[in-house]
Amino acid sequence: MEKVEDVGKQAETNNHKGKLIATLEEIQSKYGYLPEQELRAVAAETEHSLVDIYGVATFYRAFSLKPRGKHLISVCLGTACHVRGGPAIAKEIEKQLGIAGGETTPDNEYTLETVNCLGACALGPVVVVDGHYFSNVKTSEVKGILDKATEGFDKLEVETDQRVFPLEVSCARCNHSLMDARHVIDGHPVVRVTVSFGNKHGRLTLSSVYGSDAVDSEHDIPRDTVVQMFCPHCHAELIGGAPCGDCGAPMVPMIVRGGGVVQICSRSGCKGHLLDLGGSTID
Ligand code: FES
Repeated sequence: MEKVEDVGKQAETNNHKGKLIATLEEIQSKYGYLPEQELRAVAAETEHSLVDIYGVATFYRAFSLKPRGKHLISVCLGTACHVRGGPAIAKEIEKQLGIAGGETTPDNEYTLETVNCLGACALGPVVVVDGHYFSNVKTSEVKGILDKATEGFDKLEVETDQRVFPLEVSCARCNHSLMDARHVIDGHPVVRVTVSFGNKHGRLTLSSVYGSDAVDSEHDIPRDTVVQMFCPHCHAELIGGAPCGDCGAPMVPMIVRGGGVVQICSRSGCKGHLLDLGGSTID
């Protein structure tokens, strides 16, 4: 059994790590990447070693050690997307932008990266542009996608772009639907759970649109807080998901109507999510 002091030390370590992540996020949003001199300054001003800082900076996909272009394009080449034509999509984007994966266009407009899984394997090949998901992408659609990035996405995109596929979910324990048609986010009925963090406990509604991170919470949840979510019907905790691939926090699983499981990260502000629509692989 874990000793109380061990648990306390672990909590302290997590807290330090959370602060480091927040600092790196600030630097990343200021420069668009993590310049070496800034990381050295963080090491000099905190008790984190440069090795630790680089460990965190290279572990999380959200951070980059190289300057990125204005628009970030991620093409999934994970197994499921690979067999559904991901490499042809990557090649077409490379051809149109005149750069290879991992490179940025000379005008600093686009950075192209290839990733191993974006968590929507059943909908591959998947491309994400500036956080907007495009599923079942065809080579003939690449130009339109790049044009959309240049024009800029607005709030309406969530109702028109190809990532929109609302999910109906239920509790894995009591099988009761978690949908609440009385409230709407992103134009669709919300997913309603109860949430607990610190000594707060209250209602949390989430967008049912896969890929959207829009939420409405009874209590303000501080960024980076890892929360617990519960079924509002049987009150069981929604647990059992894999650790988040982006930040390592526990994922919260829910059953998708029609088959499959969706998982969302329990850390406030993290966009980690995975979808397995029955039988398709989730990395
Ligand atoms: S393999 Fe592409 S989303 Fe999972």
